[in-house]
Amino acid sequence: MLAMNYRGPYRVRAQQKGEPEIEHPNDAVIRVTRSCICGSDLHLYHGLVPDTRVGMTFGHEFTGIVEEVGSSVQNLKKGDHVLVPFNIFCGSCYFCQKELYSNCHNVNPEATAVGGIYGYSHTTGGYDGGQAEFVRVPMADVGPTVIPSDLDLDDAVLLTDAYPTGYQAAEMGDIEEGDTVVVFGAGPVGIFAAKSAWLLGAGRVIVVDHLEYRLEFVKRFAQCEIINFKEVDDMAIHIKKMTDWLGADVCIDAVGCEAAGSALQQLTGVKLKLQAGAATALHWAINSVRKGGTVSIVGVYGPTFNAVPIGNALNKGLTLRMNQASVKRHLPRLIEHIQAGRIKPSEVITHRFPLEEIADAYHMFSSKLDNIIKPVLIPPSIRH
Ligand SMILES: NC(=O)c1ccc[n+]([C@@H]2O[C@H](COP(=O)([O-])OP(=O)(O)OC[C@H]3O[C@@H](n4cnc5c(N)ncnc54)[C@H](O)[C@@H]3O)[C@@H](O)[C@H]2O)c1
Ligand SMILES: [Zn+2]
Ligand SMILES: [Zn+2]
Repeated sequence: MLAMNYRGPYRVRAQQKGEPEIEHPNDAVIRVTRSCICGSDLHLYHGLVPDTRVGMTFGHEFTGIVEEVGSSVQNLKKGDHVLVPFNIFCGSCYFCQKELYSNCHNVNPEATAVGGIYGYSHTTGGYDGGQAEFVRVPMADVGPTVIPSDLDLDDAVLLTDAYPTGYQAAEMGDIEEGDTVVVFGAGPVGIFAAKSAWLLGAGRVIVVDHLEYRLEFVKRFAQCEIINFKEVDDMAIHIKKMTDWLGADVCIDAVGCEAAGSALQQLTGVKLKLQAGAATALHWAINSVRKGGTVSIVGVYGPTFNAVPIGNALNKGLTLRMNQASVKRHLPRLIEHIQAGRIKPSEVITHRFPLEEIADAYHMFSSKLDNIIKPVLIPPSIRH
C-alpha cells in the first residue's frame, strides 16, 4: 500500500509499505478515505518529538471503511464507515473510566503521561498512523465511531481531532456567561476554540496570530475580534487595555512549542535548546489573563521542560488546565452542533492533496504557503 514515510526532519515521502494486519483479536484494519495533517504533525516533521523513528507513518486524523475485524470485535463490522479519534484508548482503565481517554494507562508502554496516539512517535506508543491507504486500529470496539449518514465526510474527519480539541480548549477554560476569552493561535484548533467559546457562553472572543489570512478567516468564521501580534509591542498590556485594565477572564494557548513572536524564546528554545521550544504564547496567556482567571492549554509541549512564569501564575491565583483532548467524550455533543447547523467544520479545509503528494503537503503546511489552513489527503484507492 501507499503510505507516508518519515525519513528524518523535514523529509517525508509517499512510499510503498506492507499492509497492516490484525495483530490482536480486538483490532480492525481500516481503508482510509480521508486523512489530515495536524499542527501536531509539524512538531514531528520538524524533528522536535523524541523517539520519532525513520520509517514511521504519521497521521492521527482519519476516516475510513472497515476492511477487516479481529475475532473479538463486536461493535464494528466490515463495510462500516467510521471516524477514528486520534487517541488510542482501552475504555476501561482507571483513567478511561474518568473519561481521560488521552491518558489511557493500557496503550502506551513507554510513557506515564500521555496515552496512545496514531502516528505520533514511540513517545505515544509507536503506532503507525492514517496518512496511508490502510491503518491498523487497536481497541476497535472503543475508539471508532460510525459516521452518521447525514454527516459530510469532510466534517467527519475534523471530528477526529481539530474540532474536539478546540472545543475542549474552550471547555477547560471554564467560561462563565459574558466572559472575555482570548485565543492564541488561529490554526484549525484555535479557530474551533474561538467558535466553541461562544457556544459555552463567552461574551467576547479575541483571537491572536500573525498570519493575516488566518485572522481574516477566523474573524468571519467565529465572529470574533482579532489581533495581529506583529502590530503589538507588549501583549499583556495590549490585552489589559482592551479589558478595562483587568485582563481577559480566560486565555487559551492553541499554539504550543513552536510559537513565533519572541526573539528570546527563539534563542533559548529553538537555537540553544535550553528549553523544549518557544513557549511565547503560554507566557502571553499567563500574563494577559486577569487575576483569578483560567489558562487553558492545548498547544503541545514536549516532555522536556519549558521555562514558564509560574510565579506570575501563583501570585495571580490562576487556574491552569491542559491536556491532549479526549476526543470520544465530545463526539455526541459536537455531532449535534453540526447537525443543527451551528457549525460547519469543513470550512477550514483549504487544500486537498493526493496522498502521493505528501511531501508538498507537509512543506506547504509547515511554511504556511498559499493561505493554507487545513490540508486533507486523499489516498489513491478511493479516488476511482
Ligand atoms: N492537545 C491536543 O489534543 C491537541 C490536538 C491537536 C493539536 N494540538 C496542538 O495545537 C496547536 C495548534 O494546532 P493547529 O493544527 O491549529 O496548528 P497550526 O500550525 O495550523 O496553527 C498554529 C498557529 O499559531 C500561530 N502562532 C505562532 N506563534 C504564535 C503566538 N506567539 N501567538 C499566537 N499565535 C501564534 C501560527 O501562526 C499558526 O497560525 C499545536 O501545538 C498542536 O500540536 C493539540
Ligand atoms: Zn492533532
Ligand atoms: Zn484506558
